[in-house]
Amino acid sequence: MTEANTLTKKKKVDTKPLAGILKKYPAIGESLLAILQDVQLEYKYLPEVCLKKVSNKLELPLNQVYAVATFYNAFSLKPKGIYVIQVCLGTACHVRGAPDIVDELERLLNIKCGDTTPDGRFTLESVNCVGACALGPVKVINGDYHGHLTRNKIEKILKQYK
Ligand code: FES
Repeated sequence: MTEANTLTKKKKVDTKPLAGILKKYPAIGESLLAILQDVQLEYKYLPEVCLKKVSNKLELPLNQVYAVATFYNAFSLKPKGIYVIQVCLGTACHVRGAPDIVDELERLLNIKCGDTTPDGRFTLESVNCVGACALGPVKVINGDYHGHLTRNKIEKILKQYK
């Protein structure tokens, strides 16, 4: 079982906010995207129980709901940590050593890229160009940009978020 799955099992999802979201929209297929956006905003991911309820409410097959939920990068099927670390692996950052930055973060956090630490504190992701190529390699933590990264700087930066 992955760490993210462990997190999912531990937390029971409160579906009251979902009920409020579903009331806002007509129960038709065209509402799907807007509803998923609201669910992502509310829960910070798309819990399975919510996807099933959306499927029932809109009378859409569950696989169709999942198809939309997995198509857009803005949606996540896994709960994310308090701090989401996005390491840019765009070309400019890649050639300046971004893969080493990912390796170091994986080592320090003891997770693989795409996963969340068991304490729910950090999620590690890779992204493509975040528009700060001159600062490469770059990582973004909850909107804070950290540039000109080296392996040696990573631990110190993480300590700011503990
Ligand atoms: S390639 Fe990393 S910010 Fe552009």
